[in-house]
Amino acid sequence: MALHYQGLAPYGPGIKGEAEDKIRALEKKINPSFQKDPQGLGWYAYPDQLKDRDLEDLVAWAKKTNKRGGKTFILGIGGSYHGAKAGLSALCGKDLPLVFSGHSLSSRELAMDLALFDPKKDHVLVISKSGTTAEISLSLRWYRDRILRVLGKVPPEAISVITDEDSPLMAQAQAYGHQAFSLPKTMGGRFSVLSPVGLLPMALGGVDVFALLEGARAQKRDLDQVGGLENPANAYAWDRYQLYSQGKQAELFCVYEACLEELGRWYAQLFGESEGKNGRGLFPTSLLFTRDLHSLGQYIQEGPRNFFETTLYIKEPEEDLLLPPSSHKDGLEGLEGLSLNDLGQIAREGTQRAHKNGGVPLLNISLDRLDAHHLGAFFYFMQRACAMSAYLLGVNPFNQTGVDVYKEEIRQEMEKIRGKNPSPF
Ligand code: PA5
Repeated sequence: MALHYQGLAPYGPGIKGEAEDKIRALEKKINPSFQKDPQGLGWYAYPDQLKDRDLEDLVAWAKKTNKRGGKTFILGIGGSYHGAKAGLSALCGKDLPLVFSGHSLSSRELAMDLALFDPKKDHVLVISKSGTTAEISLSLRWYRDRILRVLGKVPPEAISVITDEDSPLMAQAQAYGHQAFSLPKTMGGRFSVLSPVGLLPMALGGVDVFALLEGARAQKRDLDQVGGLENPANAYAWDRYQLYSQGKQAELFCVYEACLEELGRWYAQLFGESEGKNGRGLFPTSLLFTRDLHSLGQYIQEGPRNFFETTLYIKEPEEDLLLPPSSHKDGLEGLEGLSLNDLGQIAREGTQRAHKNGGVPLLNISLDRLDAHHLGAFFYFMQRACAMSAYLLGVNPFNQTGVDVYKEEIRQEMEKIRGKNPSPF
């Protein structure tokens, strides 16, 4: 097992009985083999369903694109952004030929991205499940415009898309001859990191996506073998639900590696958008320790006791730095022999002791190592836990009615303006 979960167990006998009944009933709800309508459940068996041949095609496409020698500008937002960004930040260095763009309506950001964009060799990868998200359609307009100005035309190979088979973006890709990848209709954006939405950008960044998927498959096998509270994804979901029922309103998802900060954002989107409904849901927020101990540490230690802490840590980090000897009197004499990982572990354990003594419940998820295999396992584990957790709360994990409200507001405003200004074409 690549991933380990340590939560509130051992549970008292009363809790165990209640939990087992509820969880066993919900396990069927998240497993598409038991559902007539598998809407939203496309992610569940996808790692097993994606054929190695299809994955080879994705990797071949990524290699071909990188061979052009330029950068790929990835336009996507929400579930079409966070997973890929998280995977790349966790596994790759900082100097990648990739620029994530279009995930805000900031002209400053877009102008800076466009200044880096060289249509002669760079590529644009547009990721939008619906193909209608305003931020993405708008930024694509500027990228097309830049290509047209520099090259005099938009060559089909300048742009690729990942979108639903029947989306307006797919229709555009077909009309203009762009390479298009589709994703299963039954898979929502925030549950799509293990589909081309996450795999393609990660392949562009050099992630071993075969190992990533193998990690997800292995995690699925592990989870499929045990039910009820013995299943660690269910146990994590149950613990969140218990803590929520006891008045905890927020989950602080804490990481100790800066390269995992984006994974915290992915987690926050996955759980926030899946659970925050009908006036219910834990507020998911992510923190980087020890950095944020120097800003929010005071609040965590002595503020209101209405949250709990879930820590993700790596048991055997690959890199390590030994404290160098020094003849300088800097107050650290005698610590030589310790490495930065040793010191990081001292900090994590000390922080957890302090927070526990301060009345903060602690949950822990650990990965043996930080590599593609373990990350694939983590992505899959969290998706399973999230679906179970939302159903325990009594909400549908797979819709996002709230996000759609704001999207609709923007769309209607833009439609009003369009109505007054008929297209010049
Ligand atoms: O998880 C979700 O469904 C959302 O966060 C979407 O991913 C986000 O709104 C972007 O939508 P789309 O991929 O359709 O552009």
